[in-house]
Amino acid sequence: MESSKASIVEIGTDLEKVAELLLQGEVVAIPTETVYGLAGNAFDNKAVSKIFEVKNRPTFNPLILHTYSLEQVKHFVKEFPPFTEELANKFWPGPLTFLLPKQELISDLVTAGNERVAVRIPNHPLTLELLSRLDFPLVAPSANPYMYISPTKAEHVAKQLGGKIKYILDGGPCQVGVESTILGFNEETQQWELYREGGITSEELTQVLGYQPRKFFKKKLSTETKGNAAPGMLKKHYSPHKKVVFHLDPFLKVSFPKESLAFIGFQQRHPYILESNQVILSPKGDLVEAASNFFDAMRYFDQQEKIQLIVIPKFPDTGLGRALNDRLIRAAAE
Ligand code: TXA
Ligand code: MG
Repeated sequence: MESSKASIVEIGTDLEKVAELLLQGEVVAIPTETVYGLAGNAFDNKAVSKIFEVKNRPTFNPLILHTYSLEQVKHFVKEFPPFTEELANKFWPGPLTFLLPKQELISDLVTAGNERVAVRIPNHPLTLELLSRLDFPLVAPSANPYMYISPTKAEHVAKQLGGKIKYILDGGPCQVGVESTILGFNEETQQWELYREGGITSEELTQVLGYQPRKFFKKKLSTETKGNAAPGMLKKHYSPHKKVVFHLDPFLKVSFPKESLAFIGFQQRHPYILESNQVILSPKGDLVEAASNFFDAMRYFDQQEKIQLIVIPKFPDTGLGRALNDRLIRAAAE
């Protein structure tokens, strides 16, 4: 019986308790440098199913495996395509996820029947400590209800999933604030491709690879490659309940009352929207700072009853700006 949403969840830093819950097949929220994850024992199919249930996520959308060392990763995957170790050494622990050919011990439930498993080593001291104490890896999608904005603070998780889970490991606000970059190797071209823009930028990857990884395009999907898609590429995703637009055009300006308009700007304020309805993500123009505040700002306005329309101009199309634009476009998708 669930009376109020946040009734049963405990928020704290008790690693022993979290480890015990995970061992019992429970799911718990964990902090990472990108966003909070909803974690369960990757080797326990019941726990994995519970993750899908709690998030209300369709089981065709696979989960990322989280572990604490490259040595561990080697137990879970069959081989490393060229440059895997170079990239891992440079960016792990950190916001980079590889799609790698899975070993048998990784269940089809985790990968949604895919032959590749998504793996990463998150960069958060509490979670790394937790992972190194466990004798199983954790699968963890972002700890938000399916399609909603990803949580970057423990209280975001409590607000939305508090009635469905027992514990939130509180690691403070997420430093990066957007999800990990996902890379998959294309055997045909012998190059890595971007399945999701995220916390590691294209520029950073290019420095290691010597080429700029191309985007994996959905249009390449035919029935036989369908299993390789990252459903994070869904057109509408990461989205608030309120309408999101890039510009306040004259039509919108007359159709919404002024008090109902909110603005999330990168550096500059909007000349027309009420001062009190504006959040500027980084007055000094730092995309890293902007990324760490972005989801929180969307939530902030989404939860205000008076707000009906959130205006968010596109970010500069460079560095973390690309990942931000990607989330923004999906948030604005009809
Ligand atoms: O930063 C992150 O990656 C966060 C934190 C918690 O680690 N996790 C996260 O998980 O964003 P999730 O489930 O919200 O997004 C993972 C994306 C999904 O779009 C999923 O479809 C894709 O990764 N994915 C996972 N496993 C895959 C696989 N085997 N093949 C293709 N895509 C996969
Ligand atoms: Mg997600």
